[in-house]
Amino acid sequence: MNLERERQLIARMGARLTVERDLRDFCAHGEIVSALAVLVAKALGEDEAFCEEIGVAGMLHDIGKLELADVIYGHRDDILAVERSKYVRMHPTLGIDVLRKEGAYSEDVISFIANHHENCDGTGYPHHIEGDEIPYGAKILRVCDVFAALVSNRTYRAAFSVDTAVEMMIDDVREYDMRVFLAFLRVVYGPEFASVKALIDRALTIEVDDMPLVEANAVAASHGEHAGDRGDE
Ligand SMILES: [Fe+2]
Repeated sequence: MNLERERQLIARMGARLTVERDLRDFCAHGEIVSALAVLVAKALGEDEAFCEEIGVAGMLHDIGKLELADVIYGHRDDILAVERSKYVRMHPTLGIDVLRKEGAYSEDVISFIANHHENCDGTGYPHHIEGDEIPYGAKILRVCDVFAALVSNRTYRAAFSVDTAVEMMIDDVREYDMRVFLAFLRVVYGPEFASVKALIDRALTIEVDDMPLVEANAVAASHGEHAGDRGDE
């Protein structure tokens, strides 16, 4: 799948980032979510046109964060965590404006991105919608985004293994569309997952700052199921 236009958009907007690693992380995360979302859509029997759209949406799902690059990636100590989190929660909506301005994306792609943090049990954001109020493609992105975050290093914790990530997601399964989640499980434990695993392993080679990585399981035990700790904000 050709995501050149999307990579160029990220590079253009990513020029606002001051730390190069943040841009590499951003791209690596987008590539993983995109590749996984396409496999999940195929496993759900979706046609090529839908798979193309979900792949594009996967790559660009967090594009709104680059509009707030200074606050979110500015490594500033004058911004409180709670304040930063308020801004982070604006990114799905900001993504709509970015993509409308680009003029090259369908309303489906835009709605998938606008709703990629909504949960089926109504605990997501920004609108706390639930179940079938959430666009189908957004439900696919949600599952893939959480998984991609869990299997990636974060500054405050090491990446979880694929099996641990799946177990953690099963604990929170109310948040996901069950049909989508079952298709996701078939993909993760099926032969095609190797291509996504290669992207995950490559992302893990991106150097994390000198900050020590906490033993992943210790973090899981002490922090429970808070989304911020899961790393899929
Ligand atoms: Fe996001």
